[in-house]
Amino acid sequence: MTAPARRPVRLLVFSASLRRESLNTRLAQLATRVIEQHGATVDFAAMADFACAPFDEDVLRRDGLAPASEDFRRRLEASDAFVIASPEYNASLPGHLKNVIDWTSRARPQPFNERHGLLIAASPSMVGGNRGLWALRVPLEHLGARVYPDMFSLAQAHKAFDGDGAIADAELAGRFEHTLVSFLDLVEAAKHYPCAKKAWFEFLGERPDPLTHRAE
Ligand SMILES: Cc1cc2nc3c(=O)[nH]c(=O)nc-3n(C[C@H](O)[C@H](O)[C@H](O)COP(=O)(O)O)c2cc1C
Repeated sequence: MTAPARRPVRLLVFSASLRRESLNTRLAQLATRVIEQHGATVDFAAMADFACAPFDEDVLRRDGLAPASEDFRRRLEASDAFVIASPEYNASLPGHLKNVIDWTSRARPQPFNERHGLLIAASPSMVGGNRGLWALRVPLEHLGARVYPDMFSLAQAHKAFDGDGAIADAELAGRFEHTLVSFLDLVEAAKHYPCAKKAWFEFLGERPDPLTHRAE
């Protein structure tokens, strides 16, 4: 695929694994390479940058947002969209990823709202971490993120990469690139040709009450 001319878009890309030899970090690095080949800019982050103590509302009230979630918020806000390569733990998302989402969801303006996101996963299993991505969609969509309908799960990921860090199977590599480029096209259109805005309500249908009012 040749890179088309693209108006500027910037993506925050990170792997939600803390592991040194992480397969998801390899997939996030490959996503970065493909995204840059297609004319967009990447801010590549490490999960360790966003690691927070377990969420505690008393700490939030006393000290404000955890510094790492402030950093996550800042980098989200500096980006037009995000890509998360997430491991699947017990058919769900890793607890440390949910934890930083919970912290960051308390920032105002709420930074996931209306931000486009793409979810990808790598796993040695045959399901490729796909169930974890479905679980990850739930908090992100709850927060108003525009989670891209297509996701990419790399099954048997421990055998899937070639020596250059690319996906060895040509058909699968093409599908990965197509998913990323389609997502980039959407992000570019949403940034440069906006036509619709939508309000976000944390709890649909709740009665107006100053104590619970969180609509933006
Ligand atoms: C606590 C735990 C739970 C796991 N549960 C699943 C699972 O439900 N499905 C799956 O495909 N792999 C599961 N795995 C295996 C991970 O997919 C595998 O360790 C993977 O390499 C983790 O991603 P990483 O390489 O990016 O760190 C689990 C691993 C751990 C440590």
